[in-house]
Amino acid sequence: MERLKETNGKPVSAYADPSIDSLLKHSIRTQLESLLQSKISVEQRIELLQKSFVDAISLILSDTKVTHHQLVKAFETMYDQAVQSMALAELSQEVLTRQYISPTGLIMSPYNCKHTIKDVYRIKGYARGIDKAIQSKIKHKAKINILYPACGPFAPLILPLLSYYKDTKKYSAQQLQVMLIDVQPGAVMTLRQLVKDLQLDEYISLIEEVDATQFVPDVGIDLLVLEAMQHGFTKEGQLSIAKHLVQFLNIDGWMIPQNVSVRGMMVIGETEFNQQWKAADYSHSTKLSDVAQQDRIELGEIMKINKSTLLGLEEVELEGGVKVVPANQVVLPVGVTDMSKRIFAVYAQIETFAQEGVEQYDSGITHPRPDTSIYIDLKPKDIEHTHFVASSGDTVQFFYQLSGLPGFVPVKIQGQTDA
Ligand SMILES: C[S@@+](CC[C@H](N)C(=O)[O-])C[C@H]1O[C@@H](n2cnc3c(N)ncnc32)[C@H](O)[C@@H]1O
Repeated sequence: MERLKETNGKPVSAYADPSIDSLLKHSIRTQLESLLQSKISVEQRIELLQKSFVDAISLILSDTKVTHHQLVKAFETMYDQAVQSMALAELSQEVLTRQYISPTGLIMSPYNCKHTIKDVYRIKGYARGIDKAIQSKIKHKAKINILYPACGPFAPLILPLLSYYKDTKKYSAQQLQVMLIDVQPGAVMTLRQLVKDLQLDEYISLIEEVDATQFVPDVGIDLLVLEAMQHGFTKEGQLSIAKHLVQFLNIDGWMIPQNVSVRGMMVIGETEFNQQWKAADYSHSTKLSDVAQQDRIELGEIMKINKSTLLGLEEVELEGGVKVVPANQVVLPVGVTDMSKRIFAVYAQIETFAQEGVEQYDSGITHPRPDTSIYIDLKPKDIEHTHFVASSGDTVQFFYQLSGLPGFVPVKIQGQTDA
């Protein structure tokens, strides 16, 4: 997070933060190590990099069974190669580690973003969906324009796919043109190096350092690929970015993900987050335990995000300039004897395209997020203004706050009891 350190009342650095000192040392070491590793010629490095990108996507698109271990290994290799391009881009420490809150959400540093290329099942759900969407679009269009905002330093939802298309000659640069945008200078510097190393320049119509909530493309968009979210649909600016860019989609253009369903539930924390995973070697939707699932009290969908809901979003400006959009209402169920022992949690189900997607626990972005500021059938001793207190049977209206700290705000609209 960006903080100013003061010396004699004067800010000495916009980005120095004691909490990231150890990260800085680590990041420098990581970069040096990765450069030292490459006691190989430039041509060999380029060949290994390109192969790692093609291999990872070949596994993902394959319809034959691939083990979790094979996938993780292929993605680690892709990461190791991509990090070398990042090292070659020569980002200063400041550019590498700069992280801050913008008016529409958290802007992660390139240093922290570099790991998203290892998020196997998130990339799988997106890449398979994008591949199907392109397949479908290309039947009717000679050339497709794709916009990928907030793509991070490695643009991992698109660049591996393009490497695969180029290698297999599945789609040419005449058929696909991609715009990559990110507000972080370090992400853009890395992207330029990586695109050059992957020899994908012909597919890329634009790489630009710009805030996605301000960007105005000069062509109509056929596919808008967006992933700027964190668990519980909080912190990052997915909704603000999508809301702004949806207007530039062609009339038959698609958002990827096509649907995001954000859902609420009341869980016993120990069962949901601990017992459920005791026997699992990694967390994934296919490994959910029946016992834990049956123990959940599902509250239903609290928000749906797709092209049509985005086009119809009604923004409300509150006093102080904070903007919110109304989401769904849920009725808290009655007759749940242990309601007061449960915690409220939010999770997202992502349908990228045509049944492809990212389910709960497949990735950090769909991992349920407990919200301990919400109390149902229980009154905290000292109620703070950030606490929300309601009872079984109450109807709760959720709003989504479009600020530097985006997230849900519940409001009780009618109740059997007053909290
Ligand atoms: C988690 S990282 C990369 C996520 C990437 N979409 C992926 O699939 O791995 C988030 C990136 O989004 C960028 N970002 C966040 N909000 C943005 C905005 N409003 N405009 C442009 N870039 C943004 C950050 O700069 C950062 O590089």
